[in-house]
Amino acid sequence: MSLKTLFIGGTGVISSACARRALDQGLELYFLNRGESANHPAPPAAHVLRADVRDPEAVREALGDLEFDAVVDFVAFTPEHVRQDIDLFTGRTGQYVFISSASAYQTPPTHLPIVESTPLRNPFWEYSQQKIACEDLLVREYRERAFPMTIVRPSHTYDHTLVPFDGGWTVVDRMRRGQEVVVPGDGTSLWTITHSSDVAVGLVGLLGATSAIGEAFHITGEEALTWNQIFALVAQAAGVSARLVHVASDAIAAADPVLGAGILGDKSHSMYFDNAKIRSIVPQFGPVVPFSQGARDIVAWHDADAARRVVDPRMNRLFDSLIETYRPRAL
Ligand SMILES: NC(=O)c1ccc[n+]([C@@H]2O[C@H](COP(=O)([O-])OP(=O)(O)OC[C@H]3O[C@@H](n4cnc5c(N)ncnc54)[C@H](OP(=O)(O)O)[C@@H]3O)[C@@H](O)[C@H]2O)c1
Repeated sequence: MSLKTLFIGGTGVISSACARRALDQGLELYFLNRGESANHPAPPAAHVLRADVRDPEAVREALGDLEFDAVVDFVAFTPEHVRQDIDLFTGRTGQYVFISSASAYQTPPTHLPIVESTPLRNPFWEYSQQKIACEDLLVREYRERAFPMTIVRPSHTYDHTLVPFDGGWTVVDRMRRGQEVVVPGDGTSLWTITHSSDVAVGLVGLLGATSAIGEAFHITGEEALTWNQIFALVAQAAGVSARLVHVASDAIAAADPVLGAGILGDKSHSMYFDNAKIRSIVPQFGPVVPFSQGARDIVAWHDADAARRVVDPRMNRLFDSLIETYRPRAL
């Protein structure tokens, strides 16, 4: 019997890759989303339910009396969102998968590589703190009421639609214009960047796995490139060489606290992961997309349509002013 699975989401970066993998593996797949995200259209084989997940009544109506073997929520960010899911799906699903984030791990980390028992603590980034609070709630629900949860912590995950820099395509546009680009820190910290199709193999492999209930897993790439290498690979894919200006993460955070939270609370620290736990349950898991290939796909997708090459003037102003202030000068 094929696993009857609901994705809340389904047409996002990670969820669309998981959907392709799930259908390839013969799962029966339902999506629940608003029909607004256009970059990854729903595959014809998916049953699409329409509702805004922030409207519980609309969700109940869209779900009717459907029951599932597994539900994966790709758009839960706060304990309130998870509480709503617990209320909706208790008794209606054999497994509930919460998409957390590897940024929930102790930041900065004391021990590398990161393993699933690495403590969760991120004093810098509210996004991660909220994901931790969601996980805490789910652990309690599992412990006290046997709510059949599984926690998945993706690291920085991309596909062809996503330039993995703050500012997105603005950075590539600058590179092509011969302008300097800002690299946080000195660009030598190790960063794990993961292709969505690699995450999908691990995540879909967890669906229906009884040994995954009550457990948490990260599912990440294993390349651990420096930021200087990541910028260089994108520049190479764009047919140019990058002119990098290194700016201390603290200085970026002072200039733009929102951007800074995601740098100080995540990207400025070396992060690489031991994937032994996901491999132990999903032996097929093993990242296969190197970022050199991913970078070429990103540039090709953006080059195929001018409407995708969105340049953010505010980010350009921020980059200009940081570069003007921090560009190295001879004394
Ligand atoms: N990408 C990363 O680097 C990374 C790293 C760690 C963790 N994560 C986690 O991964 C998840 C994101 O997954 P993703 O890449 O698949 O998502 P995504 O690209 O943000 O797409 C979101 C999906 O959810 C749907 N959606 C959004 N808001 C909705 C709403 N109010 N009601 C119903 N559906 C809604 C979207 O469709 P519509 O817009 O059509 O409704 C789309 O299908 C998040 O939980 C994030 O915290 C991501």
